[in-house]
Amino acid sequence: MLTPEDNRLLTRVGPDTPMGRLFRRFWLPVLLASELPEPDCPPVRVRILCEDLVAFRDSSGRVGLLDEHCPHRRASLFLGRNEEDGIRCVFHGWKFDATGRCVDLPSVENGAALKNRVRIAAYPTREFGGYVWCYMGPPEHQPELPRMEFGLVAPQRRFITKRRQFANWAQAAEGILDPTHFSYLHIPISRNRDAWGKMMYGANFSTTEVDPRLRWVVEDGCPSIHVRPLPNDLGMTVAGKRRADGDDAYWRIIQFLMPSTSLAPGSSEGENYHGQTVVPIDDENAWVFSYTWNPERELTEQERKQLGSGSAVHPALDDQFTPKRNRANDYLIDRELQKTQTYSGIVGIGEQDTAINESQGVIYDRSKEFLVASDAGIARMRKLWLETARKLADGIEPVAPSHPDGYKVRSGNAVCPGSMTLEEVMVRRFGHVHGHLGSMYDGGAQQERAAGVPVA
Ligand code: FES
Ligand SMILES: [Fe+2]
Repeated sequence: MLTPEDNRLLTRVGPDTPMGRLFRRFWLPVLLASELPEPDCPPVRVRILCEDLVAFRDSSGRVGLLDEHCPHRRASLFLGRNEEDGIRCVFHGWKFDATGRCVDLPSVENGAALKNRVRIAAYPTREFGGYVWCYMGPPEHQPELPRMEFGLVAPQRRFITKRRQFANWAQAAEGILDPTHFSYLHIPISRNRDAWGKMMYGANFSTTEVDPRLRWVVEDGCPSIHVRPLPNDLGMTVAGKRRADGDDAYWRIIQFLMPSTSLAPGSSEGENYHGQTVVPIDDENAWVFSYTWNPERELTEQERKQLGSGSAVHPALDDQFTPKRNRANDYLIDRELQKTQTYSGIVGIGEQDTAINESQGVIYDRSKEFLVASDAGIARMRKLWLETARKLADGIEPVAPSHPDGYKVRSGNAVCPGSMTLEEVMVRRFGHVHGHLGSMYDGGAQQERAAGVPVA
């Protein structure tokens, strides 16, 4: 439970808010690089952290991210002409380059002299992992890009999407910090593999065996929750421990990284990994940037097709990046499926999460909740968010942005003797107590192809 004041602090992200200022200390993904497919292609509207911006790819391939509105009389540069290394406002012809410099003032007498005094707000951008990222904070605090594994592997090894969520950013972020809900929201009520398949993949599921990992999640709906902070206030490891067969335990281990990235807990070694970064559009909407990657091999065409049509963390999307099963159509909830086969009656993991997050209200009132032990990850992360935002308001810079290498961690699952601690499980599963990948990827493509995780 939070006080109304703390709830407000956590959820408001405009330029003059503590949490908004904290988000602006980090690089954030803001759109798919493929939304700007070639030099001089049409510009794209981008609303991030309550700011209306326009993104364009100039003639040299650089991505500019500018205030949407022309400084002259505030016409939208979304209507602008993307030409010869700049975007030209179509109202009176003022032109700006990707850094925000005014490079032409054709409608003004003595324009050549005046243009040095005209500027438009511009944010630095980078392309990484198939997304365009931006940094919206003070230039003197601009960090390096976080070195997340999905962005370090070759493009053929990853699949990425983004989707719109019609609710405050923190609801999506907190949903992922909760290992218990997987035993309810995401599973069949029976151990019926066909029900699981229908929920996960629609009608096109076929398999011969029920995965024991699913069985353990079904059988133990009350996992113990284990939380360990990551160094440098980077975030935390949040793990759910369930009974497995015999004396073994089944661990599902989440990595949560500041400010709003989570790496999902369901993958065994060699499988595809999944993660998400939640980025506020404004106080009432968010983008969820979702990625799947395999460190050891390229994704197959079939995997891409399946992920693209909605599976794992990727919902089926329309061309506006809105889930096809959405609030407006009640997520196509199937009450018969709900009665007989699954808890939710909603098809798709991403859709189930989105439905719940949006159902909590546009901005969830945390003064009216009743947290229990299984919410330990959420409570700890809230504390870190609020403390870091308050410190920044007092002039103390956050530590995490200046540790980009700390983002090079893995999450996943593990089956281990029940007596092992989380620390022991982490070392056994990842070769490192924080799941850090050590020097992997430091040497470029050759090391990228190396199998296995070095012991740090
Ligand atoms: S409003 Fe853009 S040039 Fe006049
Ligand atoms: Fe979930």
